[in-house]
Amino acid sequence: MAIDGPSGSGKSTIGRGVAAALGLDTLDTGAMYRAVTAAVLRAGVQPEDAEGAAAVAHRVELGVGDGVTTLDGEDVSAEIRSPAVTAAVSAVAAHPSVRTVLVARQRAWVDAHEGGVVEGRDIGSVVFPGAPVKVYLTASEAERARRRTLDEAAAQRDRTIEDVRTTMAARDAADSGRAASPLVTAPGALVVDTTDRTPADIVAEIVRAFRAAEGAT
Ligand code: C5P
Repeated sequence: MAIDGPSGSGKSTIGRGVAAALGLDTLDTGAMYRAVTAAVLRAGVQPEDAEGAAAVAHRVELGVGDGVTTLDGEDVSAEIRSPAVTAAVSAVAAHPSVRTVLVARQRAWVDAHEGGVVEGRDIGSVVFPGAPVKVYLTASEAERARRRTLDEAAAQRDRTIEDVRTTMAARDAADSGRAASPLVTAPGALVVDTTDRTPADIVAEIVRAFRAAEGAT
């Protein structure tokens, strides 16, 4: 199953809930782009340097799963959520040469897991256009900023909602406006506005759609 949407739309929460309900594993592809970005910054490579970033992406061994992300065996789960990585990730993710490396790994992950819930920006449109169920999550910008501000507070970072909203809007604009695999609603996707709904209600709707798609094949 493919779940796409902008920052703060609920992909991780909903993805985990759907996966638990269906007994599937989840893959957070944003964590993969973030881990490569952390490695790019560590290597002193400029995020805008396509060749340098792609070389790093080829070189690093990424571990993703169970909410833990590793880079060459080191747990980088906290580092990949740092303001420095968040500020640079859209530039790194915009390089087609970086995406080629990570998309191949995402497809290999799904093969190895015989399916799963994969969340990101281009999963239904580019990585798995043939996924039986594609979901596009949205929420109002104010609500997405509110959720991200709570995440920041949970990570002991004291940021105002205005500050979070500004950086989030810049990242969304970059992700939607780039030439390579921009954030779009995939054809045939189930569009769900998560603004005023509970996760349990949304998970139930998506599980119903999955069961219906299963029954139709
Ligand atoms: O989902 P998350 O906010 O952690 O994603 C971080 C960044 O990774 C996004 O802003 C986007 O630039 C990039 N990304 C992407 N394609 C994906 C998943 C994430 O370009 N499939």
